[in-house]
Amino acid sequence: MKGMEKSKSLFEEAKKLTPGGVHSALRYFEPYPLFISMAKGSKIWDADGNQYIDYHLAFGPVILGHAHPRISAAVKRQLDEGVIYGLCNELEIKVAKKIVTHVPSAQMVRFCNTGTEATYHAIRLARAYTGKSKIIKFEGAYHGWHDIVSFSTNPTLKDAGPLDHPNPVPDTAGIPLETAKQVIIVPFNDQEIVEKTIKKHDEIAALITEPILHGSATCIPPKEGFLRFLREITEEYGIVLIFDEVVTGFRHHLGGAQKIFNVTPDLTTFAKAMANGFPVAAVCGRKDIMEHFRPTGNVDYGGTFNSNPISMAAALATIEELERNEVHGRLFKLGEEIRNNLNEFINQLRLEAQVVGFGSIFQIIFTKKQITNYRDTLSSKNELFMKFQMEMMKRGVFILPKPNKRCHISAAHTDGDIQYTIESAKEALKKLK
Ligand SMILES: Cc1ncc(COP(=O)(O)O)c(C=O)c1O
Repeated sequence: MKGMEKSKSLFEEAKKLTPGGVHSALRYFEPYPLFISMAKGSKIWDADGNQYIDYHLAFGPVILGHAHPRISAAVKRQLDEGVIYGLCNELEIKVAKKIVTHVPSAQMVRFCNTGTEATYHAIRLARAYTGKSKIIKFEGAYHGWHDIVSFSTNPTLKDAGPLDHPNPVPDTAGIPLETAKQVIIVPFNDQEIVEKTIKKHDEIAALITEPILHGSATCIPPKEGFLRFLREITEEYGIVLIFDEVVTGFRHHLGGAQKIFNVTPDLTTFAKAMANGFPVAAVCGRKDIMEHFRPTGNVDYGGTFNSNPISMAAALATIEELERNEVHGRLFKLGEEIRNNLNEFINQLRLEAQVVGFGSIFQIIFTKKQITNYRDTLSSKNELFMKFQMEMMKRGVFILPKPNKRCHISAAHTDGDIQYTIESAKEALKKLK
């Protein structure tokens, strides 16, 4: 490595201008954040000129690789025709048609710009549609940072309370106390507790979940039949089922994880991989619910940047590229290769660790405990993860130094990148041993 003096000095400068030197809290890590100067294909370069194979991929959006030529060309073409109109454009129809074609739950689509906005609008819509106000959310699940979903994303075991009725633990200061009364927390993968909770409370407008918990819990897949159970019980009790596919959408399948698990929610939110890194998100769902948005209904929904032609051009080009090439099949194979190779090596070394994941997402966690809900993840030894991360970085492989996040593979990762990563991880694990 060439050292990190430039990142360090940029951080000193940034700290004077923005709190903690970062514009999104998770970009901060010890001893100082990494400043990136370029990203291309599967690689990023920091301000000091160090090159890394990138498994962070900006928290997941970059499914085709950084600065993908086809996506860049589509955006460059659009740049000459205007960046934003604040009026309708034909591209938004083309992208909406793609989503309606691929995603089982999507009869109608509304665009916005971030996953946070999408989950916010979906929940407001569900409340207006049902005339009820409470929501159910899973412990350890992340759905963005607006008030109602900012509970129990990473609670300590002490604060979390009893498993059968966890406390709603605020993730942040600044949320009105009364908001906690509107959110009910339940453990993922526990049918009995979910059923009891739903039977005990009326006033539940929506149950929001990722089909696979990735957002802030590495990777917790649903137990066999769990998503189907959620579908059936929410239908029975008149609760809107929202799948937050901000991470899983387009990354695991063009039709979302709902297509893989064959369970169709009422509403779905997308963002991240939909436009290979350009800011775009969507709320989609049943026509009779979606038409509650103004002007057909009375639920407000607006935004200066919604469906801007730059993001739409990027989304269309990304979806077309995912349709054209067998991207997902290869990504799933590469994910398996990393997980299988490293798990075998971990077992040979008798390390208390495992590589979890699904498709192109993987993460190493330092526990042998089988992970079925958020509390299981708390047994992981995070200090070992941080050492592993540093060893990988020294070898030119970047994984985010946040143990509850995850690594992503893009279509630009070569077989050579994957082999190098496996060998580097083996060396790093040997060092830890
Ligand atoms: C599952 C999930 N939902 C929502 C969000 C929020 O998306 P954004 O960061 O675009 O606001 C995220 C972000 O990581 C997420 O992982």
